[in-house]
Amino acid sequence: MDINKIIIENVKELVKTQFQTDATGHDWFHIERVYNMACFLHEKEGGDRELIEISALLHDISDHKFNGGSPTKGGDIAFEILVSMGYNIEKAQKIKEIINQISYKGALVSDQTNSLEAQIVQDADRLDALGAIGIARAFAYGGNRNREIYNPSIPPVMHETFEAYKNSKNHTINHFHEKLLLLTSKLHTNTAKTIGLKRHSILENFLNDFLNEWNFIK
Ligand code: ADP
Ligand code: NI
Repeated sequence: MDINKIIIENVKELVKTQFQTDATGHDWFHIERVYNMACFLHEKEGGDRELIEISALLHDISDHKFNGGSPTKGGDIAFEILVSMGYNIEKAQKIKEIINQISYKGALVSDQTNSLEAQIVQDADRLDALGAIGIARAFAYGGNRNREIYNPSIPPVMHETFEAYKNSKNHTINHFHEKLLLLTSKLHTNTAKTIGLKRHSILENFLNDFLNEWNFIK
């Protein structure tokens, strides 16, 4: 097997071990779905397959939500892992940049992706925050962080800065308005947009049903 294929397999094993027991919606199965979706988007949209595969596997290796708020630690750790495995330094540097561009940073904060590879991995990650799985992940994350499910007295906020977004402790229904419902129009590739539209309507229907039940007897 060629050395880069071996490195991909080793990265897979490392990530699988590290994320096995996660209960925040960032478990190994999330990484695996993002990896599979990124490969699918690559087949339709192109880009460098190897960079896409490795970036998808390592994209949540140190997420700002779990590392004290650093938006660049993930890329740094991915770089260190790859270099320690003997991977090419220039390619590891590209992967570090891709990983540091992926995460959502607030409703009014513009995306910084500057390559097709980063756009594909970001699209794949965002598709996993939509649809039925996206709903499950949002409430898993909210529960893990002691967030209320819903509180009608607290309206959503369109965050203008990453600082404001990451410090928010809002209830999970607000997260739909502050992020999830905004993702579809931020997708980059046409293939992801088609999948995103269907998953977006699943979110809308869910919110509709949720509020109808909430307001059933008033
Ligand atoms: P990103 O880096 O863009 O945030 P992730 O792969 O880390 O992408 O996925 C974020 C997941 O965590 C999503 O499924 C999202 O619904 C959930 N999540 C993040 N912040 C919140 C929040 N404040 N409330 C509920 N769910 C959240
Ligand atoms: Ni992710």
